[in-house]
Amino acid sequence: MLLEVYKPCAKSLVPFSPSLAAPPQEHRKMEELRDQPNPQNDVVASDDDDPPMLSSETLSALKEFLAQQNRSLGVEPVPDNVENGEEQEEEVALVSEDWRLSQFWYDRETAETVAREVLTLCQLSDSRVACIACPTLYAYLKKLNHNIDVRLLEYDKRFEQHGSEFTFYDYNRPEELPSELKHAYRIVVADPPYLSKECLEKVSEAISFLSRPQESYLLLLTGEVQKDRAAELMGLRPCGFRPQHSSKLGNEFRLFTNYDPGNRLGGWEQED
Ligand SMILES: C[S@@+](CC[C@H](N)C(=O)[O-])C[C@H]1O[C@@H](n2cnc3c(N)ncnc32)[C@H](O)[C@@H]1O
Repeated sequence: MLLEVYKPCAKSLVPFSPSLAAPPQEHRKMEELRDQPNPQNDVVASDDDDPPMLSSETLSALKEFLAQQNRSLGVEPVPDNVENGEEQEEEVALVSEDWRLSQFWYDRETAETVAREVLTLCQLSDSRVACIACPTLYAYLKKLNHNIDVRLLEYDKRFEQHGSEFTFYDYNRPEELPSELKHAYRIVVADPPYLSKECLEKVSEAISFLSRPQESYLLLLTGEVQKDRAAELMGLRPCGFRPQHSSKLGNEFRLFTNYDPGNRLGGWEQED
């Protein structure tokens, strides 16, 4: 079977290597630093007694390198939200993408926009939320509202770290979802792993199992190519807002909803 998958842009194609602590260019940078006693390119020389300064590029490579080393040693990172004595906005920690599982995380603006929309919907209805295969959204929802009642349905067992809010989910087997989740969610957000007809059909089965018939808000994030199928299967229409990912994707990506978001999410696209 030909699997229709998301296409990372050629520029962002780096072979997956779980053992690689840092991206290749950062490794090179660290090796340069180590091998050169006085790396002139990166250290800004000064006549006076001021301490030497690393360029911002090298500093960020150094930070990432040390963070990766700490992670591999199981050391908890120091919170990165206090810099120069000023509080910065807290970053959401995400596990690394595994492209073999079609994992492409949203960029921050996308994750925050969709999370805010979900929180707005929570104010309009009861607030049980199901996130199907969108772990970044789950993480941002918890960041924005720690008490939100949200369930993450995911195939990647690294997300078992979320404890009782995690449910193992294989899109091929929607019939294996636990019976206590049936029609339990007023808000369901899904981001299927593949762009095939078969995958969307199976995911739509899971969506109808989890959601309350005629009462739920449905949000689907997937490729533009699924527009007609999303309309046929679930009555969804695209919004103006264009989701983006941390790794640039070659596919045009859309957010589809079964409700009119008004002025939010760039509005609902009118029917052709
Ligand atoms: C296109 S990504 C969506 C992630 C989303 N953009 C985010 O940032 O949270 C697809 C998701 O499907 C999950 N996945 C991979 N294989 C799966 C399977 N067989 N069944 C269900 N989910 C699967 C991946 O782990 C990944 O989280």
